[in-house]
Amino acid sequence: MRVKVSRKAHFNAAHRLYNPAWSDKKNKEVFGLCSNPNYHGHNYELIVSVTGDIDQETGFVMDMKILKDLIKTKVENVLDHKNLNIEVVEFTKLNPTAENIAIVIWNKLRPEIEASNELEIVLYETPRNFVTYSG
Ligand code: NI
Repeated sequence: MRVKVSRKAHFNAAHRLYNPAWSDKKNKEVFGLCSNPNYHGHNYELIVSVTGDIDQETGFVMDMKILKDLIKTKVENVLDHKNLNIEVVEFTKLNPTAENIAIVIWNKLRPEIEASNELEIVLYETPRNFVTYSG
């Protein structure tokens, strides 16, 4: 039986959405307030889900303490209270949209999750806007 287990987490980060190939005018048209040259913050809500078989000895798909610690070390410690464009190497040339942040988080966690288990990232940039990436 495959079961999906999930852990919620949270981080605050600043970003600016910007395409250097475009004029400032076009960046403002497409990205609106998110293209503010002086950056702005979001309260990101993260849901990390792992789907797999239940271990017969533990009754767990995955030990949630281990998942909690992985999110702390691989995601929160890297992204929380950071300026994503400036301080997070993955975004020096990658626009830090919610889509791209979700992919970066997935890539950081995927090697840490058992290969036979699936990993899904849901990232809320605002209470109403969220993206899902599962590889
Ligand atoms: Ni924004």
